[in-house]
Amino acid sequence: MSERQDPSRRGVIRGSAAVGGGIATAALLAACGGPDGEGAGGSAAEADAAVSGSIPLTEVPVGGGAIVAATETVVTQPAAGEFFAFSSICTHQGCPVSQVTAEHIICPCHSSHYDTRTGEPVSGPANQALAPRTVTVTETEVEYS
Ligand code: FES
Repeated sequence: MSERQDPSRRGVIRGSAAVGGGIATAALLAACGGPDGEGAGGSAAEADAAVSGSIPLTEVPVGGGAIVAATETVVTQPAAGEFFAFSSICTHQGCPVSQVTAEHIICPCHSSHYDTRTGEPVSGPANQALAPRTVTVTETEVEYS
């Protein structure tokens, strides 16, 4: 059975819309205030094994991406038709990433930046890549697991 949800209920944050948005702020506060706030990268990676979901293609902007808070996933589309997905949990100290540009996935807590194609850290204190998700693109959706 599919785990699809109404996009309005799964906390999708698209592209630069997350900057200064109330949803992003609320998600950030919730995640950073949790018991795994320090050094949560390892436990997040273990939890990733069971994650799967999908997002409509129309919700992943070209030159940006979308953050699906419910599945802790960031889906990127750095160029038209080129999709990638990763855990949205920063490997530094476990904050959720909050912004996606064509080049970078950005964590607001200590400004780690990750490559949108590989998930590898490119600047900031994070030194481990975001956990990758397997992506399948259909006519209407990006499925990830
Ligand atoms: S938790 Fe993301 S940069 Fe520190």
